[in-house]
Amino acid sequence: MQALMMTNYGDIKTSLAFQTVPMPVISPTQVLIKAHASSVNPIDYKILRGDFKAFKKIQFPLGIGRDVSGTVVTVGSAVTDFKVGDAVFSRIDDELVGTISDYAVSEAQHTAHKPQSLSHEVAASIPLAGLTALQALVTTANLQAGEKVLIHAGSGGVGTIAIQLAKSLGAFVATTTSTTNVDLLTSLGADQVIDYKQQDYLQQVNDFDVVFDTLGGQYTLDAFKVIKQGGRVVSVSGEVDDTLARELGLNFIIRKLLSFKARKITQAAAQKKATYRMILMNPNGAQLADLGALYEQTKIWPTIDRSYTFANSIEALAYLAQGRAKGKVVITH
Ligand SMILES: NC(=O)c1ccc[n+]([C@@H]2O[C@H](COP(=O)([O-])OP(=O)(O)OC[C@H]3O[C@@H](n4cnc5c(N)ncnc54)[C@H](OP(=O)(O)O)[C@@H]3O)[C@@H](O)[C@H]2O)c1
Repeated sequence: MQALMMTNYGDIKTSLAFQTVPMPVISPTQVLIKAHASSVNPIDYKILRGDFKAFKKIQFPLGIGRDVSGTVVTVGSAVTDFKVGDAVFSRIDDELVGTISDYAVSEAQHTAHKPQSLSHEVAASIPLAGLTALQALVTTANLQAGEKVLIHAGSGGVGTIAIQLAKSLGAFVATTTSTTNVDLLTSLGADQVIDYKQQDYLQQVNDFDVVFDTLGGQYTLDAFKVIKQGGRVVSVSGEVDDTLARELGLNFIIRKLLSFKARKITQAAAQKKATYRMILMNPNGAQLADLGALYEQTKIWPTIDRSYTFANSIEALAYLAQGRAKGKVVITH
């Protein structure tokens, strides 16, 4: 089969190549999916450029891409929820990486039936970004109706879904973006759209229950200026907190180092009697099915910025890496 492969650490134009690779062999708990669409996420180009080298070394060549929508062509002997011919979508496990390819392997527990009303292109836009929004706002922040949430980078792949998910929960949503995306985010239902090119968001919001920090750095620290006493800050781009460090199984010395790196955040959180969590999203088929239902009920509308062909998937990654995507960038196979 044909697959886009990472050939070494480097940049998008020089370290990716289409290769003919053997058909994957699945285990009893997995399904093999003929890919009809995939989508790209910042983690794809961040891994390629070596951002996570210190944590995990890559054996090249290695596939790229984590989101897929397609048709099941083989099921493992222990799989009961899926059969050959089913239309499915998935955020595949990191160990199985490679969805910008003719076929992809997914654990059955990470897979969900694709809602009939959604195209494969739309379904492929959902998994990683949608699960991130859900696990940040619902699983971690436990966002409630009537609460106020600030969502940074509302126009990104994660943000466009997070805004609509938070609205479907009944929250008041403020979000940050640049001038050109203000109308888009208003149309997605955001109650307060702050144009960071024109306004200092710190002057526009205060006493919030939750901040969803997708930007990291100073934004993480400043989240504690915006939340009320006892508020919650959930980050997907900030410093690793001790809960995540333990979940990752990091040893005591590394945990101490990380805790030192995060000390300003810990202090800011303590002053506000607030909680701080940094999360890494997890693949989850049941949650993906819940998200699919929200799209089917039109509580969430897909925001697809650009769609590329499989042959042009390197351009898809190059576009995403510019950091200006409005919603998701998808690939049709
Ligand atoms: N920890 C995890 O499990 C996890 C999971 C998913 C994503 N992430 C991380 O979360 C981040 C967002 O992911 P994504 O998929 O949404 O990325 P993305 O789609 O590439 O985000 C692009 C958007 O970010 C906006 N943006 C950039 N700088 C901004 C700023 N200073 N203020 C407000 N908006 C800004 C841009 O809007 P403008 O053009 O208007 O500036 C653009 O629309 C990435 O760093 C990603 O790696 C982490």
